[in-house]
Amino acid sequence: MHHIVYSSQVVGELSEGLLREMLVKFREKNRQLDITGILLYCDGQVLQVLEGERTVVEQLYSVIEHDLRHRAVAKLADGPVSWREFPEWSMAFAIASPSAFASLAGYCNPNNPWQPRNEAGLLIRELIREFIQQTHLII
Ligand SMILES: Cc1cc2nc3c(=O)[nH]c(=O)nc-3n(C[C@H](O)[C@H](O)[C@H](O)COP(=O)(O)O)c2cc1C
Repeated sequence: MHHIVYSSQVVGELSEGLLREMLVKFREKNRQLDITGILLYCDGQVLQVLEGERTVVEQLYSVIEHDLRHRAVAKLADGPVSWREFPEWSMAFAIASPSAFASLAGYCNPNNPWQPRNEAGLLIRELIREFIQQTHLII
C-alpha cells in the first residue's frame, strides 16, 4: 500500500460546484483503480491524498500533476503506508475553513523545520484524520 499527498491551486473558474461535478468522474475512475483518498478544498486551494497500489497511485499522480485545471502542484508525501486512511472513500471531499486549511497545509509543508522528513507521511495522515474528526462537511 502506498500514498501520495499533494497540494495545488485550482486555475481560473474551477468553482466548488464544478469540482463536485468532476468528483463524480474521479470517483468512478478511482473505484476502477482501487484508489481511495480525500480531496480537501478551500478558496481555490486543494490538498489531496491518493492511496492504493504503488504503481497505480504513481501513474494517477503523474496524470493529475499535469492537469491544466490546477497549478503549483507540490508533493507533500510519497511513500509506503501500512493501511488505508480512507478505505471507504473512492475520493472523500471536504470543504475546509481557511484557518483549518492554512494550518493543515502549513503543518504538511515538507519545508516546515519541525517536521521530521521521514515521518512526513505519518504526520500528514494524523493531521488529516484529526481534521476530519472536527469537520462535518464530508460529502
Ligand atoms: C485537483 C484535481 C484532482 C483530481 N483528482 C483525480 C482523481 O482522484 N482521480 C482521477 O481519476 N482523476 C483526477 N483528476 C483528473 C485527472 O487529472 C485526469 O483529468 C483524469 O484522470 C483523466 O481521466 P481520463 O483519462 O479517464 O479522461 C484530478 C484533477 C484535478 C485538477
